[in-house]
Amino acid sequence: MSKDTYYVTTPIYYPSDKLHIGHAYTTVAADTIARYKKMQGYDTMFLTGSDEHGQKIERKAEAAGKDTKEYVDQIVTTFKELWKKLDIDYDYFIRTTEARHEKVVQAIFKELYDKGDIYKDKYEGWYCTPCEAFWTERQLEKKGGEKVCPDCHRPVEWVEEESYFFKMSKYADRLLQHIKEHPQFIEPESRRNEMINFIENGLDDLSVSRTTFDWGVPVPIDDGHVIYVWIDALSNYITAIGYKTDQENFEHYWPADLHLVGKDILRFHTVIWPIILMALELELPKQVFGHGWLLSETGKMSKSKGNVVDPVVLIEDFGRDAIRYYLLREVAFGTDGTYSTEALIQRINSDLANDLGNLLNRTVSMVEQYFDSVIPEVEEKEEIDKELINLAQNTKADVEVEMEELKYTAALEKIWNLVRRTNKYIDQTAPWILGRDENNKPRLKTVLYNLLESLRVTAVMLKPFLTDTPEKIGEQIAQLDGIQNAGWEDANWGGLKTGVKVTNGEPIFPRIDLEEYFAEIEARKEAEEGAEKSKEEDSEMDLVDIKDRITFEEFMNADIRVAEILEAEIIEGSDKLLKLQVDIGLEERQLVAGISQHFTAEDIIGKKILVVANLEPATIFGVKSEGMILAASNPAGKMVLSTVSDDIANGSQVK
Ligand code: ME8
Ligand code: MG
Repeated sequence: MSKDTYYVTTPIYYPSDKLHIGHAYTTVAADTIARYKKMQGYDTMFLTGSDEHGQKIERKAEAAGKDTKEYVDQIVTTFKELWKKLDIDYDYFIRTTEARHEKVVQAIFKELYDKGDIYKDKYEGWYCTPCEAFWTERQLEKKGGEKVCPDCHRPVEWVEEESYFFKMSKYADRLLQHIKEHPQFIEPESRRNEMINFIENGLDDLSVSRTTFDWGVPVPIDDGHVIYVWIDALSNYITAIGYKTDQENFEHYWPADLHLVGKDILRFHTVIWPIILMALELELPKQVFGHGWLLSETGKMSKSKGNVVDPVVLIEDFGRDAIRYYLLREVAFGTDGTYSTEALIQRINSDLANDLGNLLNRTVSMVEQYFDSVIPEVEEKEEIDKELINLAQNTKADVEVEMEELKYTAALEKIWNLVRRTNKYIDQTAPWILGRDENNKPRLKTVLYNLLESLRVTAVMLKPFLTDTPEKIGEQIAQLDGIQNAGWEDANWGGLKTGVKVTNGEPIFPRIDLEEYFAEIEARKEAEEGAEKSKEEDSEMDLVDIKDRITFEEFMNADIRVAEILEAEIIEGSDKLLKLQVDIGLEERQLVAGISQHFTAEDIIGKKILVVANLEPATIFGVKSEGMILAASNPAGKMVLSTVSDDIANGSQVK
């Protein structure tokens, strides 16, 4: 019984590195709205994925010494693992290296070319590879005499190449009109005004192909070019749902209801993307929402800066629901905010452990104590009950209003207002006093029913935000099925199943001791550094000290010659020794070397090596040795011979 469709997307992230808490932020927000709409009965489509082409990724793979596809495959695996850990329930994960996507991107390019909206010309300009952005001379900044990108302050490169261009200018007026007539198209409002100003300043045609690298979708009409990332990347939103390949599915979900993106890429989504769609004669998405930055305590977080917060560690330490709650609750969606572990722990302790966890624990304990765990029926209602019930009903309605505007923080505040009010209801009704007198049993039944029902309603409303907690509450209050299967309307008051038995369980959010946690983090850091250090020390200890100095003359007394190994055989009874016949140019010599554990005769016959030729002869294991071969061995016990290239005559002196 689906009433309508709801299609929401995240950006497709670059698989140039592991994802950080900033990426988790967008994706958790998208997951939450998707879960909410699904609960409301919408036929929901939630898309995320990876943006795998481009020079930056090609170079990263190269630096890692990997085949590009292998490199991205491995990183995309870490994306999917992270989404699993955060319980991100996407419907499809698109990769821009998928054959279907590549084919349709080519078809899109061709269509725009055939229409005359793409044409060939020449491009010159300053290019920032990490940002994938062109800059004019005037826009550049200088750092130590070097021209650098005004965004990331890294060096730019001068690029001069033939390129295809997309006629953005042709659509500028239509786009402006659309933005002005659809106030919801760009959110939040402050960013809409920025975009309007940007477009009003005039749009340049956009370079949409490259000849300087290969890792991209080939331009279908011109071998030497690949399609530049933005046409490739943005098109994912339509190729993923079947544009030109599964037209029925495409028409079912398109236009998208919401593209969720960070403010860094809002312009691409509100200028380039709508113009591509206009040129393709497709409808525009209903809304593009550009949320703010999650900063790290040491400034803007970014993969390339290395000051990133790893969500995987946080999930392991605190659980995914704590992280989801923190991300959605702490920073008003749209504005910038700072991630802080201290604030996260405070949220866990006050909102999750204290407010919600205690409410559950107190309630279940009282049902055990007074009613042998069995959930009672409502008997006597009073004014204070109606007040609680009204608040619960209003909370549901308020959350609906906030969610329509993606105000996650406000929605959670509303829900916590109910949680806190319910805790207060316990204090006001004082069940421990009611429990002393058998005559108050009917009243006590109603109070406990209301507490449990408030918890059930809360658990249902939390389902879009937190994915483990609603079930944990459900288990303890004996409403697991109901909560698992609940739609949004089940958050209405009155759905509690009575006559079943509650079970007191573990606290759903154990309190975290801030100081202990930070001490633990310190200990981990030290352990890591210690491990690094002892590794270094180990290898240093194995290296033999440098011997005492010798004079130049003393060194020159050693006569070192190039020698070719003619024969080699193991000396019977020894476990290390090889008997070698070598050609030292002036004569053949026999010598003994302790290398048989490292080399066989076949390994070394024919090799040219270095020999100390004027060493006192010795008899080793009964075999005469006239000289010594040079070899190097490392602390791990590996040995290599001092081989020389064979274009030097035997007997040549080494000085
Ligand atoms: O831009 N705070 O990919 P990307 C909040 N492939 N959000 C953050 C963040 C932070 N500190 N850091 C990253 C790309 N994000 C393109 C997108 S879409 C057709 C192509 C989030 O890996 C935020 O959503 O650089 C931002 O827009 C996105 O990650 C950028 O991810
Ligand atoms: Mg980026």
